[in-house]
Amino acid sequence: MSRSASLRGVSATRPSVRDSLSKTVTRARTRGVVEVATALRTQARQSLWSTNELKLLVRDAPGPLQERPDVRFREATALDARLYADQIGTDSERTFLARLSDSTRCYVVEAEGGLLHASWVTTLRAWTSEIQAFMAPPPGDAYVYESFTRSDTRGRGIYPFALNGICAALAAQGAGRAWVGVEATNEPSVRAIGKAGFAEGFTLRFRRRLGVVQIRGVTGPLEEEGRGFLSRMAHR
Ligand SMILES: CC(C)(COP(=O)(O)OP(=O)(O)OC[C@H]1O[C@@H](n2cnc3c(N)ncnc32)[C@H](O)[C@@H]1OP(=O)(O)O)[C@@H](O)C(=O)NCCC(=O)NCCS
Repeated sequence: MSRSASLRGVSATRPSVRDSLSKTVTRARTRGVVEVATALRTQARQSLWSTNELKLLVRDAPGPLQERPDVRFREATALDARLYADQIGTDSERTFLARLSDSTRCYVVEAEGGLLHASWVTTLRAWTSEIQAFMAPPPGDAYVYESFTRSDTRGRGIYPFALNGICAALAAQGAGRAWVGVEATNEPSVRAIGKAGFAEGFTLRFRRRLGVVQIRGVTGPLEEEGRGFLSRMAHR
């Protein structure tokens, strides 16, 4: 499975056809038509027939805050909509604004050249297209998803730095733990999440047959909590 097929297209409400179109146009403008067409082809193939694993990693929110001289971490606001669409490109201005709420926030890492990274965080639920369901963290915890580092700035530890900042922000908001979901085949992401102090929680095995998702099982040190995620999982 390709890296671009990592957790994508997630939101507190299931994206409408208009939302998906608007995101696809923004992505094509930011990353080029060829990259987006390749990603769409991979998605279509995988939704027809594939088997995969979603890893859920977890860490306590409170922890030492990292500082870096070259980049800054902050929460994004509605004023960032245009910048987000132009430089991150995983959402259009409209879908970016529609997603922001008290329970669903966006955090960014920036430098002089603009936005380098964005991650979304919810205390409520996030639509996860791989399993065609909403993932909801346990009460009091938060779920980090749809993380993206601009391709020209990858490999500089920006994602672990963002995760560290997110955990500090969550601790200040009183959250207990942060969870991150990642497809097992997305090695760069698994490595980055490990560097930010996250440890294995549980693994969700699933397969797609002609577009229908079947959950095949939950394993791992926190598999009991994994079953809790499954029981909270909603499909609409
Ligand atoms: C996954 C992702 C967010 C990591 O961001 P990052 O800021 O580059 O994170 P890091 O700098 O810690 O690099 C993580 C790993 O990426 C790999 N990497 C290093 N340089 C790279 C480059 N130029 N291009 C791609 N991957 C690179 C390395 O394996 C690195 O781990 P290592 O430093 O232990 O060798 C980024 O690759 C990305 O946006 N990918 C596409 C979207 C995605 O998969 N999101 C994750 C959803 S859970």
